[in-house]
Amino acid sequence: AERTLILAFETSCDETSVAVVENGTKILSNIVATQIDSHQRFGGVVPEVASRHHIEWITRCTDQALAEANVSYNDIAAVAVTYGPGLVGSLLIGVTAAKAIAWAHKLPLVPVNHMTGHLYAARYVGEFKYPQMALLVSGGHTELVYMKAEHEFEIIGETRDDAAGEAYDKIGRVLGVNYPAGKTIDEWAAKGEDTFHFPRAMEKEANYDFSFSGLKSAFINTVHNADQRGEKLNKYDLAASFQQSVVDVLAEKTMRALDRYPVKQLILAGGVAANHGLRSRLDRDMHKYHPDVTMLQAPLKLCGDNAAMIGAAGYMCYQHGDRAGMNLNAEPGLMY
Ligand code: KG4
Ligand code: ZN
Repeated sequence: AERTLILAFETSCDETSVAVVENGTKILSNIVATQIDSHQRFGGVVPEVASRHHIEWITRCTDQALAEANVSYNDIAAVAVTYGPGLVGSLLIGVTAAKAIAWAHKLPLVPVNHMTGHLYAARYVGEFKYPQMALLVSGGHTELVYMKAEHEFEIIGETRDDAAGEAYDKIGRVLGVNYPAGKTIDEWAAKGEDTFHFPRAMEKEANYDFSFSGLKSAFINTVHNADQRGEKLNKYDLAASFQQSVVDVLAEKTMRALDRYPVKQLILAGGVAANHGLRSRLDRDMHKYHPDVTMLQAPLKLCGDNAAMIGAAGYMCYQHGDRAGMNLNAEPGLMY
């Protein structure tokens, strides 16, 4: 069998990542250098700091990715790189590194959309069956994506304000949880109960859009009002109530989309797809409402930003004939 190796780069936000992926389905290496520590004291990602970190780490990550995969540039079929959406300065480091390597080693350069990358993290769990629907939930995006055929994606609903992960990070800050707060809030939620009944925005509206800023405000007001009364609220119940509200809305809208669009499969991907409450709720709902639709949940380890997902998407794009020249530029606002 033919062995097509993709060398993949991901630097759209705060992870510097390089991977070697075989035939879009097998990870030979996936190096992720996180810079979360550098941003934590600022309570979020500082673009300038992120770019500098990428510059410092990109070469080391590349060497390590090749070494761990036990391959050299001669074995690589193509270089894939995230060129958007994301932070322009961060994206530019990955794009420049990928261009330099592609040029020096005379390899095809394959441009990859970061969101397509997130979707393809699920490709490591099983085959894609079209048409399929994806719930893509991350720190920057919350969208329902109708994947009509390979390389033919359409956003049918998205958040009108904050992304789900962004809401997690913002309410986490109020509870004194370091950025990014999602994982900790998820753990706290498992120890509490939905005693606060925060709003579920647009839950019953006949569309596929989301809104999380009202929930965020309700949460922050509840905590501040209690503070003023000198009252200390149970953080586990606060986390559980917040999470229940987020999960209810995400699950209801996804089921609504599946009612309207007949699909073979549902994909769950993006940083927030690591959420345990969301994963188990979708398991239950799919079993109950759409037992004939299979579901692929991105592996826990590949929900956050990483280059292995770009390698899987890059392989698909490579086979499709997507190529970029040395004029490839970062596109911070890239859509599908
Ligand atoms: O996809 P991602 O790594 O970066 C973007 O492209 O945005 O997503 C990061 C987001 C952060 O907001 C983080 O708090 C959230 O994913 N997150 C979670 C969990 N793990 C990470 N949110 C809820 N529950 C989790 N277990
Ligand atoms: Zn991402």
